[in-house]
Amino acid sequence: MSSSGDAIAPLLPGATIGILGSGQLGRMLALAAREMGYRVHVFSPGTDTPAGQVADREFVGEYDDGDAIRAFAKDVDVVTFEFENVSSLATDAAAEVTRVHPAGRVLHTTQHRIREKTFLRDAGIPVPGFREINSLADLRSAADELGIPAVLKTASFGYDGKGQQKITPDDSLERILENLEGAQGIYEAFVDFEKEISIVAARTVGGEFKAFPVFENVHTNHILDVTFSPARITQEVSDKATEIASRVFDALDIVGVTGVEMFVTKDGDVLVNELAPRTHNSGHLTLDGCVTSQFEQQVRAVCGLPLGETALHSPSAMANLLGDVWQNGEPDWSAALRESRIKLHLYGKAEARPGRKMGHLNASAASVDEAIDLVCNARSQLAS
Ligand SMILES: Nc1ncnc2c1ncn2[C@@H]1O[C@H](COP(=O)(O)OP(=O)(O)OP(=O)(O)O)[C@@H](O)[C@H]1O
Ligand SMILES: [Mg+2]
Repeated sequence: MSSSGDAIAPLLPGATIGILGSGQLGRMLALAAREMGYRVHVFSPGTDTPAGQVADREFVGEYDDGDAIRAFAKDVDVVTFEFENVSSLATDAAAEVTRVHPAGRVLHTTQHRIREKTFLRDAGIPVPGFREINSLADLRSAADELGIPAVLKTASFGYDGKGQQKITPDDSLERILENLEGAQGIYEAFVDFEKEISIVAARTVGGEFKAFPVFENVHTNHILDVTFSPARITQEVSDKATEIASRVFDALDIVGVTGVEMFVTKDGDVLVNELAPRTHNSGHLTLDGCVTSQFEQQVRAVCGLPLGETALHSPSAMANLLGDVWQNGEPDWSAALRESRIKLHLYGKAEARPGRKMGHLNASAASVDEAIDLVCNARSQLAS
């Protein structure tokens, strides 16, 4: 039932879920959906993709080809996402034919950092200070007003820290602007954070909201390296983060799963860094550590089913496996799996490039420290 009173029948097992994008998030979503008896169609420009390998059907097309998107959407009961940088043209085309969750307007807001931060700020959500950058004059006044150090990011299409420059007092602003290569930028005050956390949560058409326990994230070279939960934060910070996430979902009227990345400052303030209107890398430990995985939760949310329990079974950790692990040839999987609590997840990607997310390891244990040790030790066995 929707809160507005119009009954929207849930999509029951047997229905077909359409996924735009075909990487690892789509793969794990497709696997969860198929376990529950749904059919899965994926759409992306690639073939034999991580998600396509496990889907019922793999549609090949460009995200800006409205006709191809409409043809894809016609055969499914709901369209959802694993890749958020699809244009409004694509989401509008899909919405002409079927349900789309989250709505295209959510993607439109979150795929552009200035739109996203402006929306959040105007909704009263705490975010770092920021300014729009289109010229050297903009950059100079941002530096005056927000100070240095700072981070300059491209407004669109950044991931894994790509398109980001840290600005320090020794940098020439002319040079920094040149590196933007004419793209629009966003200047952000540098947050001297104590830690990075994320909340992955889900919301249904009827307004039911459930968050997973807070994840604590450690990045290396701007790429997520290790996540664990429970996070090493106070109950007060945990409650604050969850409350902020719930306000984000309401403000954007999100139906589906979204990851909310946040900074915790030394004073215990929580600031939102960015939103991902889909499942999130930090939520991968839910596959083995929680009653419901983030992927099953996405299925439930977009199909209008009641949400699943999000509690952890026990303290859990996840370590990403990047292509770098393959530098000495095929990793020694049996060495990592000798510790029987290690769970291996691989995404079916043929080519292991440095920095490319190829898989991850999960472990649960009696304490979060032990879970972290398990995944880190197992990973170090892989490439020895
Ligand atoms: N304003 C900031 N102050 C301090 N550190 C920052 C700031 N913005 C980003 N960072 C650091 O850079 C990382 C990547 O930033 P952000 O999440 O905005 O970019 P991204 O390219 O979308 O990365 P990802 O795909 O990993 O989420 C953050 O997790 C954080 O470690
Ligand atoms: Mg990020």
